[in-house]
Amino acid sequence: MSEQNLRFAIVTCSDTRSMKEDTAGAALAALVAENGWECASHVVVKDERADIAAAIVHACDEVGVDIVLTCGGSGLSLRDVTPEATRDVCERDVPGIAEAMRYHSLQITPFAMLSRAVCMQRGRTVVINLPGSEKAARENWEGIVAALPHAAKMMAGGGH
Ligand code: MTE
Repeated sequence: MSEQNLRFAIVTCSDTRSMKEDTAGAALAALVAENGWECASHVVVKDERADIAAAIVHACDEVGVDIVLTCGGSGLSLRDVTPEATRDVCERDVPGIAEAMRYHSLQITPFAMLSRAVCMQRGRTVVINLPGSEKAARENWEGIVAALPHAAKMMAGGGH
């Protein structure tokens, strides 16, 4: 449990899942809450580049969260366009977060190398692509959660 209040948005990207079926998104919301942080918004959008981009922009600019977790759409299927949508609306790469997710996950499964996930900054928000299965989302979260409070502090101008 951290003393720092971090605000999150979850954007699940799926052609097939509704809010009710979004167990990965729900698991991420529970992990956020377990750390004493706030999940300020949770939406499910289709695997459409423009829809995902719009949901990311809304979370960053209107809800004003510190961290957007996208969930799903980062694999090799031609319908997987979450990394492209993220690039469309973010300015700066934060490659270390994606590297940490793959490093952590490769110790669990070789399929981790099939993730095209990116992590990028839009203004004072960091957008992190997580995989869409509940198990994979949990494992990737595990690999990065320790650095998230410091990331938010730096984006808010807090330095080290
Ligand atoms: N990472 C972990 N830790 N565990 C997993 O099972 N699955 C991989 C990868 N990362 C996986 C993982 C697979 S099979 C894919 S295709 C990519 O995440 C992207 O998943 P997505 O298309 O659901 O976003």
